Order: sequence, then C-alpha cells, then structure tokens
Amino acid sequence: SASDPATATAKKIVIKQVTVIGGGLMGSGIVQVAAATGHTVVLVDQTEEILKKSRKGIEDSLKRVAKKMFADKPEASSQFIEKTLKNITVSTDPASVVHSADLVVEAIVENLDVKNELFNRLDKFAPEHTIFASNTSSLPITQIANSTSRQDRFGGLHFFNPVPMMKLVEVIKTPMTSQKTFDSLMDFSKALGKTPVVCQDTPGFVVNRLLVPYMLEAVRLYEKGHASKEDIDVAMKLGAGYPMGPFELLDYVGLDTSKFIIDGWHKGDPDNPLFAPSPLLDKLVEEKKLGRKTGEGFYKYH
Ligand code: NAI
Repeated sequence: SASDPATATAKKIVIKQVTVIGGGLMGSGIVQVAAATGHTVVLVDQTEEILKKSRKGIEDSLKRVAKKMFADKPEASSQFIEKTLKNITVSTDPASVVHSADLVVEAIVENLDVKNELFNRLDKFAPEHTIFASNTSSLPITQIANSTSRQDRFGGLHFFNPVPMMKLVEVIKTPMTSQKTFDSLMDFSKALGKTPVVCQDTPGFVVNRLLVPYMLEAVRLYEKGHASKEDIDVAMKLGAGYPMGPFELLDYVGLDTSKFIIDGWHKGDPDNPLFAPSPLLDKLVEEKKLGRKTGEGFYKYH
C-alpha cells in the first residue's frame, strides 16, 4: 500500500536531471555543485548574455575548486573541470527544457508574482514526476507552490552563499509536500555533498530566522551608542566564534537584501519586536550604501 515504507522508498524519485532557473549568485553555484556531482544540468536565464556570464563564473569557480581538490595533479584537475562543464547546457526558454527534468530548482529574483508566473507556466510543460523547488530566502514556499497543481511535488531547497563552500541545505516541507518528494530532496542534497536539515515553512526557516533578528539587534545596539560597530564585530568573532561580525555579515549579504527580508516579515507579523525595522538600516539603503557590492555599507571597501 501507499503507506508501506518499502513501497514509498521504491517510488522515490532519484534525481539525475536538473533544471536550474536563474543563473545569478545562487543559481550559478547550484548548477556548479550539481554538475560536479554527476547530475545533468540545464541552466536557464533571461538572455544569452547573462548565460555567458554565468558560465564564465562557474568555470572560474570550478578552477579554484579543482586547484584545492587536485593540488599536484593538473591532469586530474582539468579532467574534473571538463567533465563537470560537459554536464551543463544552457537555455533562455525554461518551458522547452523541463520535459527532461527530474527536478526544477528556481533561483530567480525574490518576487512572489514573478516566481508564481514562472512555476504556473512550467507546471504545464514539466512531466508528472518532476519535483519543483524554490531557493527563496524569505517567501513562503506554500504561496509559491500554490501557483501549481503539484503542491505535493513542491518543496524548498534553501542553499547558502557561496554555494560551493557552504555545507548546509535547508529542505523545506510544506503541509502539502509528500513524504516521497521530501525524501527525494533530502537524497539530492546529500548527493551534492551537502548536509540537509528539515525545516517547516515558517519565515526564515532556521538559519535566517535566527541570523536576521540577530544582525538587526546588533544595529540597534550600535544605534543606541552601547558599542561601536567595530567592537561588536570583534566581540562576536572572538567571543562567540563567528567567522564574521554582524556588520561585516550585513555588508556581505547586502543591506537591501536584509531590509527586504525584515520588511516582509514585519508586514506578516507587525507586533513581533524581532522583526521591527531599523531606522539606520533604512537610511543606509536609501543612500544606496548597500554593502560590499556598492563599495560602502556599514564599512567602506576599496
Ligand atoms: P541574483 O540577482 O544574483 O540572480 C537572479 C538571476 O535570476 C538573474 O541572473 C536574473 O537574470 C534571473 N532571473 C530573474 N527573473 C527571471 C526569470 N523570470 N526567468 C529566468 N531568470 C530570471 O539573485 P540571487 O542572490 O542568486 O538570489 C536568487 C534567489 O535565491 C532569491 O530567491 C533569493 O532569495 C535566494 N537566495 C539568495 C541568497 C543570497 O545570499 N543571495 C541565499 C539563499 C537564497
């Protein structure tokens, strides 16, 4: 029967062919790791020009990875790069490539309407068995899944930046995600060499739910004049063992991204003080001081 665990396991989809939509920071990393672990990957983005840039980024990153993996074996190194790149093809039309996908991972712009439009369209073109997953950091997976007729074959696969380095994947199970889908996503994450953790579909899942309020509390501490930002960063690195202090991390993540996340959660839960907006963060974003990517955030970069 369907509830028999042996049958459930037997029916679990083994993910071999993957379509990744969005070849930006996260999508490129997901493509690289999936291809390097022997999956066949189609990378989709909006223009040939973007795809060319993504491919170049993946190649450069692979070279760095290979250098570490095959320190004094240049032959093995170039073989690994060549083999990985062979697993990657690109396209600007997702509807024309999903027919062969076991899994579609979406890593496009963080906008619910745009994600819904994409998945609603792909739902009509993808085979019955294909699992859909979103890499969203701040939107409810359930609300994205609801744009399709395959809510049971829909989950969250939340990776961390930089994807080739960071070992964690949060696998998000909505109330509609089937056990079979969930098991496939867990197995896929392990096949990528990552460690998956199970998350419910709640704001921020686990990592960001703890990290974002912590970073905002650091800003509030600084705003109140209780400590300098430099001292807060040193304190958290040396006292709590964090690799970056909260202000370094905010600059790394992007102040606009952090503001976007907290504003979204605040809207959904206005009475939660952990999700309260920060006047200083808002001011810096208004001044276009967005962190490392603009050369200035809490700190200046040259
Ligand atoms: P990005 O801006 O670097 O890349 C997004 C890419 O998607 C761009 O190349 C863009 O051309 C493409 N795109 C946009 N709309 C598209 C469409 N309709 N069809 C095809 N391609 C489209 O963004 P990033 O940082 O890679 O984020 C992507 C997703 O990953 C977001 O949902 C974000 O919340 C999530 N995420 C981001 C993390 C981060 O540290 N930046 C961490 C974990 C998740």
